[in-house]
Amino acid sequence: METSNTAPRTARLELDGKTYELPVVVGTENERGIDISSLRSQTGHITMDDGYGNTGSCYSKITFIDGEKGILRYRGIPIEELAEKSSFIEVAHLIIYGQLPSSKQLQRFSDLLTRNEMLHEDMKFHFEGFPSNAHPMAILSSMINATACFYPETLEPYDASTFEVEAARLLSQVRTIAAFSYRKSRGLPIIYPKPAYKYSANLLHMMFSEPYQEFELIPEVVRALDLIFLLHADHEQNCSTSTVRMVASSRANLFASAAAGVCGLWGPLHGGANQAVLEMLQAIHKEGDDGSKFIAAAKDKKSGKRLMGFGHRVYKNYDPRAKIIKRQCDELLAKLNINDPLLDIAKRLETVALQDSYFVERKLYPNVDFYSGIILRALGIPIEMFTVMFAIGRMPGWIANYREIAESVENRIYRPRQIYIGPPLNHYIPVKERTGQ
Ligand code: CMC
Repeated sequence: METSNTAPRTARLELDGKTYELPVVVGTENERGIDISSLRSQTGHITMDDGYGNTGSCYSKITFIDGEKGILRYRGIPIEELAEKSSFIEVAHLIIYGQLPSSKQLQRFSDLLTRNEMLHEDMKFHFEGFPSNAHPMAILSSMINATACFYPETLEPYDASTFEVEAARLLSQVRTIAAFSYRKSRGLPIIYPKPAYKYSANLLHMMFSEPYQEFELIPEVVRALDLIFLLHADHEQNCSTSTVRMVASSRANLFASAAAGVCGLWGPLHGGANQAVLEMLQAIHKEGDDGSKFIAAAKDKKSGKRLMGFGHRVYKNYDPRAKIIKRQCDELLAKLNINDPLLDIAKRLETVALQDSYFVERKLYPNVDFYSGIILRALGIPIEMFTVMFAIGRMPGWIANYREIAESVENRIYRPRQIYIGPPLNHYIPVKERTGQ
């Protein structure tokens, strides 16, 4: 572990009349933490941190976020620069391998993705087993796990010499699985990937071409999808990435770890928020509400409603990804000549919320999911596939976090503690002697 320590510091803890010294660790950007790894052995106490809001679970070199300032960087490079100048595949290389690829490395990476884009032919039969209304996130997670069965070497412990191919296989095939599950849900014939197409174009082709007619690839549409993937590519220790690391820490394989990540992402408080935002906007539109009724409900805890796409555990400022997506939304809809009433509702909700003391005091701003659904909808992606798009985009981050764990010599299995609050010692009662209904 490396930290950019200027002068070693310690924190002092007083407990039961004794004083303990705990080292202070400092990150590259001066983020500070108290290293409590010896706390239990020294004091017999653990820390409690519901929801892990104050817990650093690892050292990582991949992504930096300053939530107060609204900063996001992949391997030190600001998200704004990457969004303007880079592509999803270049960024995937940056995130997984730690550097922007040279043109030779980029070619090699792209070729590897192309060579690994086809699913094993027998995988096709697995899709037949799902009901046509199965949620594509359930299919995605099952099929990622199933993929490993077709490549037994994947099940072996981490091996740096095979990692490159495995990572490319996962990154490439997640897109093929997503497209196949969409085609299956619509009762449409499967469209195979086309080696000539780049990553995002190929996904659109597999989803929307027909055996008798190629889907017309509009450059702005391809670019918009690529940008969505790029903006989702990593986001440090969120619920799904921590899940990937948790599973990887037991030395489970890359595919098992990523499949677990898909499940972590699915919920509406995390990646599922993009679907939830669209459903919220549609409901507001259907009701003819201008958004005021919904905002009032979102502020009332008893309503059970939240302004989806707003708020973030780390950002206490505008999510920098949301700013980029909002701009892209305006540009894409203008280019495609789409006048989406849901975009107007979203903008109004944002304006009202950002002036409302409830949201201001709690520092609740639009997050990445607030506008992304409107872009995905304009691209013709069905609502139930929104979170799948998030998962495709997040794959480089999961792969890089898996690699960090797998390559770390210091890695121990992730195993948090708890404070037990159940019944005290109790004894077995034979069934006939038990009372109650
Ligand atoms: N609408 C209304 N109130 C909210 C919202 C919201 N969207 N988000 C937070 N609050 C309130 C919450 O009720 C609490 O109020 P109080 O202090 O009075 O009890 C306060 O703000 C703090 O919220 P919290 O739930 O303790 O914050 P958290 O850090 O645990 O949760 C969050 C973060 C993202 C789960 C939450 O803001 C939320 O549910 N947002 C809506 C869902 C959403 O958009 N999720 C996508 C997150 S970004 C993409 C990604 O997953 O990476």
